[in-house]
Amino acid sequence: EKAGYAHFMLKEIHEQPKAYRDTMGSRIDAAGGKIIFNELKLTPEQIHKIDRVHIVACGTAYHAGLIGKNAIERLARIPVEIDVASEYRYRSPIITPQTLVIVVSQSGETADTLAALREAKRCGATVLAITNVVGSTVAREADDCIITWAGPEIAVASTKAYSSQLIAFYLFSLYLAQVKKTQSSEYITEVITALRALPEQVETILGQFEQIKNFAEEISTHSDLFFIGRGMDYAVAQEGSLKLKEISYIHSEAYAAGELKHGTLALIEEGVPVIALATQEDLFEKTVSNIKEVKARGANVLGISAEDEHEMIKSVDQHFAIPKTLGLLTPALSVIPLQLLAYYASLALGNDVDKPRNLAKSVTVE
Ligand code: F6R
Repeated sequence: EKAGYAHFMLKEIHEQPKAYRDTMGSRIDAAGGKIIFNELKLTPEQIHKIDRVHIVACGTAYHAGLIGKNAIERLARIPVEIDVASEYRYRSPIITPQTLVIVVSQSGETADTLAALREAKRCGATVLAITNVVGSTVAREADDCIITWAGPEIAVASTKAYSSQLIAFYLFSLYLAQVKKTQSSEYITEVITALRALPEQVETILGQFEQIKNFAEEISTHSDLFFIGRGMDYAVAQEGSLKLKEISYIHSEAYAAGELKHGTLALIEEGVPVIALATQEDLFEKTVSNIKEVKARGANVLGISAEDEHEMIKSVDQHFAIPKTLGLLTPALSVIPLQLLAYYASLALGNDVDKPRNLAKSVTVE
């Protein structure tokens, strides 16, 4: 059942190229120039009327939502708010019939997410679910549903479900842009072409696991570490940090790179591991200067960026290269080394990788 892999988590990490292809599937036309969402009841007229989007989810699905917010705002120019489900319901969010509420849930059974969905519907919003389970409660109760075709996810730590949620968000954001004509058809084609190249690029990253395994073994003796990045790199850093905590039990924090010096920099001392993501061209210089700040305090830095970023390579202790793609799509690649890092750190510590302590796969209590 583990198809020769030592753990479900490793198997699921390796299933991501397939999950990407299946989630894109027939949602891209044969010519690669258009997004097709035959399953959506949401009409172009309704889309034109949407004046705000709320994204609501828990844990890893919330982290996928952070990327979704970025993609929708950039591509479709609709303002997006995002909340964790357990907070959303209790803050009296402003929900109108012109609000599109997107709930994201791998299992489709998470109690807080379900309660948020029901509250949104009660207020007259249209609810779109992004879920991995056909026929789940969230899928049944939402007005519309985009299934992520990641296949069953057994390991408690979510990997392929998260990354295929990213693909679903990219596709849906492109679809909104196509309907609202907020982007040229040339640009939409460019993004689609880059999306289709992702599965092979993930394969390339998976082939370089040794480098991450070595770094994971190195950090496994530490009790605190940091993930830093800006923009979408910060969102991916949050996911990397959660993954590591969840299965290795090593404490970590994700920080917006520019925010460190407002307090947390005090925790950086000789040998503290810092994983720094710098995949966004427009933010690159700024992140590199934050890397220099932690290096100057003795941090042991693993840098993650495109292969040709020499300034970055010079500034870090170790560098992991991810293949070139559009800035918008880098999370679908940069999360892979972070999943591997969590996996190999957990393994090095002799933990139960697939069934971490205190956690359940599906959280059906509030
Ligand atoms: C972490 C993880 C959790 C889930 C969260 C939501 O690896 O798996 O944070 O993402 O419990 O679960 P779903 O997506 O099923 O609603």
